Amino acid sequence: MTRKILAAANWKMNGSRTANRAWTDSFVPRSAELACNILVCAPSVYLSDLDRAFEGTKVMLGAQDVNEHANGAYTGETAAAMLKDVGCEWVIIGHSERRTLYGDSNERVAAKCRAAHEQGLRVVLCVGETLQEREAGTTIDVVTEQLQAALNAIGPQALAAGALAYEPVWAIGTGKTATPAQAQEVHAALRDAVRAVDPESADALRILYGGSVKPANAAELFAMPDIDGALVGGAALKAEDFYSICASAQV
Ligand code: 13P
Repeated sequence: MTRKILAAANWKMNGSRTANRAWTDSFVPRSAELACNILVCAPSVYLSDLDRAFEGTKVMLGAQDVNEHANGAYTGETAAAMLKDVGCEWVIIGHSERRTLYGDSNERVAAKCRAAHEQGLRVVLCVGETLQEREAGTTIDVVTEQLQAALNAIGPQALAAGALAYEPVWAIGTGKTATPAQAQEVHAALRDAVRAVDPESADALRILYGGSVKPANAAELFAMPDIDGALVGGAALKAEDFYSICASAQV
């Protein structure tokens, strides 16, 4: 089965109205030429601006997190319905920065997936091991457990309507990319775990690699059979670099 490459930008807590306008002015007019699917996940305060900038283009809009509750007394948080309301189609859930800095356990990630799914948001579920876990030989166990929690919450079809992102924690923002072979091994194991539940969803599911993806290494990653795109942090802040990454996708 051929899966269309999804190139996703995770801007994290970066940007300003001025910087975002420069980015969209540079990227959006050329985006129609790109063969892959494109997603930009931005800080929530800028989502409305970006919804306007991406209107009528192939660039899809996503948020970087969502609260697990529908609404109520949760100061500072953002509900899934609000993200939909300002034009989001997607949301990243379970990013390692949320897991390590803000206490997002597998249970909380599962609840967030459920909340997003109930509002029809497509989820980019992030999984990944720390360096310690890799060195201890537990990578596959760790990522499979992270996947399973979300899979139990929303099921394989909803997962396949979104995407899974394998982001080894040791490769995020460090300049150290997993080799294509290292990433492929984990992607294949993740797909097998979904296949055990639902083979059709496993074939349809796009598994993105994240962790120091840049123009120089995107093509070799996309060439692997189970790498169906990228979740790009630092390099996605430069429109030119993100464009080059997108252009590396042949399908
Ligand atoms: P970098 O591309 O900056 O390593 O970040 C990866 C990431 O965390 C994307 O979600």
